[in-house]
Amino acid sequence: MSAIMIDGKRVAAETRARAAEEAAQLIRRGVTPHLAVVLAGDNPASQTYVRNKERACHEAGFRSTILRLPADCTQAELEEAVLRLNADASVHGILVQLPLPAGLDAARVLALIDPDKDVDGFHAVNAGRLATGQPGFVPCTPLGVIALLDAYQIPIAGSRAVVIGRSNIVGKPMARLLLARDATVTMCHSGTRDLASVTREADILIAAVGRPGFVTPEMVKPGAAVIDVGISRTESGLAGDVAPQVAQVAGYLTPVPGGVGPMTVAMLLHNTLQAARRLAL
Ligand code: GUN
Repeated sequence: MSAIMIDGKRVAAETRARAAEEAAQLIRRGVTPHLAVVLAGDNPASQTYVRNKERACHEAGFRSTILRLPADCTQAELEEAVLRLNADASVHGILVQLPLPAGLDAARVLALIDPDKDVDGFHAVNAGRLATGQPGFVPCTPLGVIALLDAYQIPIAGSRAVVIGRSNIVGKPMARLLLARDATVTMCHSGTRDLASVTREADILIAAVGRPGFVTPEMVKPGAAVIDVGISRTESGLAGDVAPQVAQVAGYLTPVPGGVGPMTVAMLLHNTLQAARRLAL
C-alpha cells in the first residue's frame, strides 16, 4: 500500500483564492485588509518568509506593510513600532517575524501586540481563548493542518490523534484544535516513554519535532493520516520529521516541501481577513 499524498500546494492555492474573493467583497465596502510585518535584522530565512507573506498579500488584493528595523535596534524601538501599529486604524493584522536578533526579548514584544490584531495567534490572550473555546486567532500552521485534514475529508471527531512536539506555535495549539473537533488527543514529547507504542495508536499522527526522519514506519498504524510539520535543512536538501518509508504504511501523508508549509501563509491571509472583518465592520 502507498499513502495518498496530501497536496498542500493545491489546498493552499484554493484557500488563497477564497481569501482573494472575500477580500474583494470587503474592498467593495471600503475596507482593504492590511497586514503589517515587523522585521528586525537580516536573518536570510526571515527575509524569505516575509517576502512570501508580502507576495501572498498582494496576490490576494491585501495591503501589506513591512516595517524594517536594524539588527542593532533597541527593545524600546521595537516595542515603539508595535505600539504605533496597534494605534493605526488602517492596520488589521500585526506580525513580528521571529526569531528576533540576539538581545531582543520576543516574549515582551509579542505581549504588546493588540490581541485583536495578533494574526499569528502567539499572544497569551489568544492562546487562552483557544484553550477555553472562545473565538480568537489561532496560530497559522496548526490551523493549516486542520484545513488539510478537512480538504481530504479525514475524520477528526472520534479519532485518536497523537501530536509529537509541545511548542506554543505548533504542538499545543494543534492538540487544542483537534480536541475542539472531538478527537481523543495525546501529546508526546522528548520525555515520552515508549513513544512508538503511543504513536501506533494514532489515526491522525502529527509530527512537529524538527528532527529529520524522526517518525519511522514502525511508529505508524497502517492507514493512519500522517502530517509532517517538520522542515529541516540537511546535506541532501529539505527534510521533514517523517521518514519517506512511512508512505508504505500510512493512508495519507503530507510531503515536505509542498505539504503543511504552503498552508501557513494561506492561513495568515485567512486570519488577516478575520481581523479586517472584526475591526472594520
Ligand atoms: N518565523 C518562522 N515562522 C514564523 C511565523 O509563523 N510567524 C512569525 N511571526 N515568525 C515566524
